Amino acid sequence: MSSKILIIGACGQIGTELTTKLREIHGVSNVIASDINTRNLDLVNSGPFEIIDAKNYNAIKDCCQQNNVKTVYLMAALLSATGEKYPMEAWDLNMNSLFHVLNLAKKKVIDKIFWPSSIAVFGPTTPNENTPQHTICEPTTVYGITKQVGERWCEYYHNKYGVDVRSLRYPGIISHKAMPGGGTTDYAVEIYHEVLKTGKYECFLSKNTRLPMMFMEDAIKATTDLMAADAKKLTIRSGYNLSAISFTPEEIAESIKAQIPDFTISYKPDFRQAIADSWPSSIDDNVARKDWNWSHDYNLMEMTSEMLKQLKKKYNS
Ligand SMILES: NC(=O)c1ccc[n+]([C@@H]2O[C@H](COP(=O)([O-])OP(=O)(O)OC[C@H]3O[C@@H](n4cnc5c(N)ncnc54)[C@H](O)[C@@H]3O)[C@@H](O)[C@H]2O)c1
Repeated sequence: MSSKILIIGACGQIGTELTTKLREIHGVSNVIASDINTRNLDLVNSGPFEIIDAKNYNAIKDCCQQNNVKTVYLMAALLSATGEKYPMEAWDLNMNSLFHVLNLAKKKVIDKIFWPSSIAVFGPTTPNENTPQHTICEPTTVYGITKQVGERWCEYYHNKYGVDVRSLRYPGIISHKAMPGGGTTDYAVEIYHEVLKTGKYECFLSKNTRLPMMFMEDAIKATTDLMAADAKKLTIRSGYNLSAISFTPEEIAESIKAQIPDFTISYKPDFRQAIADSWPSSIDDNVARKDWNWSHDYNLMEMTSEMLKQLKKKYNS
């Protein structure tokens, strides 16, 4: 049986598009999508799909052994804003799911893991601009703590047991297919939907909050490029800094107004402002650029054009 890929948490914002791309690269039947629910019917009906709880070690193991799965992309997690509401659930899901796949690799059931980290590993004591790869990481959110600790475990399993685990510190990801799942950068997706639905948007972050962001196409390219990279070239087994664009709510609104002049934005910061304030405003990703030739394609204006084009099609169909 040819070796297969398993995506855990495939129905989410990133998993939806990652599944499509991996199926393009490896063939539909070689990529098994899984999630805890079948909410995303387009994804569920697009190829092999299984219900798998990421907290259930035996369910992951059985799927891997029965299907000759050798590579796992672990995308299930509780994100930053939801994690602040349910801290113990975030710890439970984010850590146990990671241990399950790390231990399956340690036992040689699987060969390779992708596990996403986040800019949430950084905190208020981290240098705010052009945050380097190696720097102070004192996260103040539960989500950030799980990502920081997760990175330490990834590096530990690589050094101690030779586990081939690869990870990226994703910035806020902007996309038009699945909606985001409870993060602090969700505003940068919601804004495009609201401009087309109502012509206005009330932002939950203040207008000058600058955060690192990335268009989904670039995030998927980074993920597949990192996984295809020669293991010998990888110098980071915790999480690679990854960067594309940084902007404020005011700047994304300006990029929209350039195409839809009547659009208006107002600001009503909520609890997510404190999370955003603890994160860097821009990231230095030179190590990723050097090790596996990472580069991004989309700037803010190009992303806005593509988001509006794709969402107009969606709302008009
Ligand atoms: N989206 C971003 O901007 C962003 C930024 C940084 C890091 N990340 C990381 O990337 C990964 C994917 O993020 P996303 O935005 O696609 O998240 P999401 O919330 O959109 O999707 C997560 C998916 O996991 C599923 N899930 C939840 N509990 C599960 C369980 N017990 N078992 C199986 N599946 C379960 C959900 O149903 C959902 O489909 C996460 O690790 C996240 O921390 C995302």
